[in-house]
Amino acid sequence: MSIRAEAFDKWIRGAFVEMNTALENLYFAQIERANVENVGDAIKTELRDEGHSHVVGLWREGNTGEGFDSAFGVLGNVGLYMGALRRHELTNPDREEKSPFAEASSLACHVGASIGMAPRFATSHLATHNLAVAGVRKSFTSLADEFLFIDENTRGILSFQRTADALARIVPLGVSSPAADVLFDAAADGLHDVLRCNARLFEKLDVDRFFFSVRPYYKPYRVGRQVYRGANAGDFSGINEIDLLLGLCRASDPYYAQLLVDKMLFMLPADQARLRDCMTHRSLLDELLLLAEDHAPADWFQMNTRAFLEVCDLFGQTAAQHHDKLVSRFIVGPAENMPDDRMQGLTASGPPLPVLIRSLELLRDYRMAAPRPELETRHADLAALRAAIDLSPR
Ligand code: HEM
Repeated sequence: MSIRAEAFDKWIRGAFVEMNTALENLYFAQIERANVENVGDAIKTELRDEGHSHVVGLWREGNTGEGFDSAFGVLGNVGLYMGALRRHELTNPDREEKSPFAEASSLACHVGASIGMAPRFATSHLATHNLAVAGVRKSFTSLADEFLFIDENTRGILSFQRTADALARIVPLGVSSPAADVLFDAAADGLHDVLRCNARLFEKLDVDRFFFSVRPYYKPYRVGRQVYRGANAGDFSGINEIDLLLGLCRASDPYYAQLLVDKMLFMLPADQARLRDCMTHRSLLDELLLLAEDHAPADWFQMNTRAFLEVCDLFGQTAAQHHDKLVSRFIVGPAENMPDDRMQGLTASGPPLPVLIRSLELLRDYRMAAPRPELETRHADLAALRAAIDLSPR
């Protein structure tokens, strides 16, 4: 890492966090907590100018990051800085045609393009690749609720990744292999852990602190001329690997295919490759349906189908929990009390909240294989598999 890149990283982990935290405490103390206008202006100016001098130094140096890890770190740091400028309304894509932060935009575009990622901070910067230095991970603020959110998101992602890894290892074995049992067990285990992370967030995260002081850093912002959507905990390939390997979502579905294309550059290059690979295999569900015709009574079929269905059930539960508990409690609930003029930019992906909620509902219903006649969920196929197994305990 260059000396300038190191100094920027130190600033992001220190003064940047302190200034954001001070601003959040000022906003939160107001009766109208969503207001950021004319509050803490001196701190905002300091944050903007200090960050700018780091960015200009790196941009002049023509910093390319010197290798993936360092480039990824620079991209994350310039992204956190731009995300904070957006949060404090020092930039707003709705009133501008291009970012007022030309040097930061150029630096982000240069480094993003060089490593094959969108030129903004991504979930991996704050989750799976958020390097802790003596226990301190990167964050916008030092608020306990932000750390709770970051840490539980990371655990949730790591647990989904374990499930995806296990399912992917079934492919070369074949779903009829008796040895697949340990992999189905590992897949189920990862999902049990996701359920636990989500439950902890539901219980412990403060609704108002999350809504007013954490979530606003995840708004879309402009880099150069283009608006890039915010990061969300879903920007890793594991969740889609599970969708595709189980067969609950199909890459040929127009809605789902679009979603995959849209999220590609928000993922690490290694994740992009995993996702592409996943699209080239037949799903476990389709394999089992083909085998059911001739082999339903076989022991291996009964065992593996039962284990497969258990994983599908658990995965459906994680999707229902995300939507019906987390999204509902931490986004939909507090948004109901927001005046209309404050609703803009509420979601990380940008569309108005009701549109976002409908699309998240679709994902939930695909993953739960819900009976929705207007959607091609796998409800009937899972029912056919359930009918093919002997439901008495084994
Ligand atoms: C307070 C907790 C959480 C809330 C309020 C929340 C809310 C949301 C929202 C609103 C979106 C849509 C993106 C957007 O804003 O535009 C989203 C996407 C997503 N979130 Fe969460 N989330 C939470 C925690 C988690 C956790 C712990 C995970 C586990 C890894 C997770 C996984 C996902 C995934 C995979 C997506 C992408 C859409 C999908 O494939 O389902 N979220 N989340």
